[in-house]
Amino acid sequence: MDLDEAIYGRRSTREYTLEAVDEPTIRRLIDAAVHAPNATNEQPWTFTVVRDQALLDQVSQASKTYVLPTLPAGPQADRYRSWLSDPQFHIFYHAPLLIVISGIRQGPWIAEDCALAAENLMLTAFGQGLGTCWVGFSQGYLNTPEGKQALGLPAEWMPVAPIIVGHPKTMPAPVARREPHIRWVG
Ligand SMILES: Cc1cc2nc3c(=O)[nH]c(=O)nc-3n(C[C@H](O)[C@H](O)[C@H](O)COP(=O)(O)O)c2cc1C
Repeated sequence: MDLDEAIYGRRSTREYTLEAVDEPTIRRLIDAAVHAPNATNEQPWTFTVVRDQALLDQVSQASKTYVLPTLPAGPQADRYRSWLSDPQFHIFYHAPLLIVISGIRQGPWIAEDCALAAENLMLTAFGQGLGTCWVGFSQGYLNTPEGKQALGLPAEWMPVAPIIVGHPKTMPAPVARREPHIRWVG
């Protein structure tokens, strides 16, 4: 796929078919992820592949319980509050697969490295006809001792990018962007 087509065509996907993502495809996505630029090429990441739907249901529920009391006041948070209070709302949108990109230790650029890996993974998934969505709602819980235990992550790992992946049920509509604020210096 043409690079522009991937960058401008990728959309966060929130409706998936039941079709599983096969293992060679998962490995292809992770291979693309590790080709991301990363500080001093330390590649401080690890990829946790979760396909167990009962576990995803459990993490979805626990993440909702964790996030709700942390939401600030305000109209945007009120919108999230109403989603997260809905018992039917599944933070992983019943996607067949979650890939959690975690830093394997503390460090000054761990979050940047994992986020760049996540973008490579999401663009490559789009190129393969798959949908993805970064699920920030799960990050708070996944960084607790209970959340790490749920996925079997060692205590020192830092989950940065929880990315759901699957076959899109429908193609999401484009999401508009504001004109960028640009300051030209020199
Ligand atoms: C750090 C981060 C956290 C996000 N968390 C969520 C989330 O919890 N739930 C969700 O539905 N989308 C989440 N998104 C997706 C954004 O809402 C989405 O990227 C944004 O609305 C722009 O739409 P697009 O990805 O289709 O261009 C997240 C995206 C990022 C980068």
